[in-house]
Amino acid sequence: MKVTVSRKAHFNAAHRLYRKDWSFEKNESVFGKCNNANFHGHNYDLTVSVTGEIDPETGYVIDIKELADLIYQEVEVAFDHKNLNLDVPEFADLNPTAENIAVVIWNKLKPRLKPEFGLEVVLYETPRNFVSYKGN
Ligand code: NI
Repeated sequence: MKVTVSRKAHFNAAHRLYRKDWSFEKNESVFGKCNNANFHGHNYDLTVSVTGEIDPETGYVIDIKELADLIYQEVEVAFDHKNLNLDVPEFADLNPTAENIAVVIWNKLKPRLKPEFGLEVVLYETPRNFVSYKGN
């Protein structure tokens, strides 16, 4: 019997979508306003879901406090009030799209959880635009 436990989190961050190896015009045509040279911000909403068996002793799949602390350390401390392109090493050469941010978050959290746990990351860049990644 597998149960999914989810925790929501939030961070504000700035980014710019562009490729250094493309001309400004090509970046502008592909990324539009997101190529703004002086960056722009988003209020990101994150849901992290862990799926696993219920521990018969505690009745928990995972202690939600432990999950909250993990998200705080790996995501909020690393990304909140940061410029993703300039301040976060993972995005030095990786476009900080919602897709790539979700994958980076998943890659940071996965090794910190029991290997048998399933992990899904859902990242909202705006209230209507969101992406999800389960590690496939
Ligand atoms: Ni953007």
